[in-house]
Amino acid sequence: MSEATTYPLSRRIMEMEESATIRMAQLARDLKAKGHDVIDLSLGEPDFDTPVHIKEAAKKALDEGYTKYTPVPGLMELREAIRDKFKRDNGLDYGVNQIVVSNGAKQSVANVCLSLLDEGDEVIIFSPYWVSYAEIAKMTGATVVPVYAGIELDYKVTAQQVEKAITPRTRLIIFSSPCNPTGSVYTYDELTSIAEVVAKYEHLYVVADEIYEYINFTDKHVSFGTIPQVKDRTITVNGFSKGFAMTGWRLGYIGAPAWIAAACTKMQGQFTSGPLL
Ligand SMILES: Cc1ncc(COP(=O)(O)O)c(C=O)c1O
Repeated sequence: MSEATTYPLSRRIMEMEESATIRMAQLARDLKAKGHDVIDLSLGEPDFDTPVHIKEAAKKALDEGYTKYTPVPGLMELREAIRDKFKRDNGLDYGVNQIVVSNGAKQSVANVCLSLLDEGDEVIIFSPYWVSYAEIAKMTGATVVPVYAGIELDYKVTAQQVEKAITPRTRLIIFSSPCNPTGSVYTYDELTSIAEVVAKYEHLYVVADEIYEYINFTDKHVSFGTIPQVKDRTITVNGFSKGFAMTGWRLGYIGAPAWIAAACTKMQGQFTSGPLL
């Protein structure tokens, strides 16, 4: 008797791949526990610890009673600080009603996909990509369309490639810059060319995952949402995991058009509610 017959799990979960990164990380832990000397390149775990002032602030906050349910899109003080950060570091103008803090940027991406995608929609993912994008997008019933750029393009997808991959069903583009796994960083000109293509298609939105913003050894970081043609089509994803070595804290966020932020808040309100800090 097949496992599916014994335990009637949903088609959704049966068709979903386990996170390859998490599987690799577990394998590395298991091998380490057996005494093997393992260099683990699986999880994007920074090689420094959460800065002391952050830990101290968190301890103080707990002592002051910050232990209860928070507003679903995150504490107002935190959203105000994120609004200021977006402005200062990225030149992005988001109001607090456009910001949603989630339990990791992974949840941010899931909120957006669940809010925007329907069965049969297509999602262009710039490849090579962080493996979770595809599984999260597939969970909605959408079809993943990877668009690959190899070493000859410095692993950066061109505007022409994007244009070629767009069909009447394309609803979302997902990419990261700086990119996990390649480390490539898109320049302003490269992003502008892509933005010009996106702007031509009215119902096309873009998840610009900028979580590696501060782990950038190449070019100046540019936020896709600063390009005027796509300001209202961009969901900027960021978080604390990589830049501040806070992977275990589970804190990510988006800046997005207000109606997308509201949809993500509604989604999150039924799944997890807001994160603590
Ligand atoms: C490109 C990219 N986006 C998002 C995430 C998720 O980050 P978080 O820890 O905030 O869920 C990761 C984690 O590895 C990542 O590599």
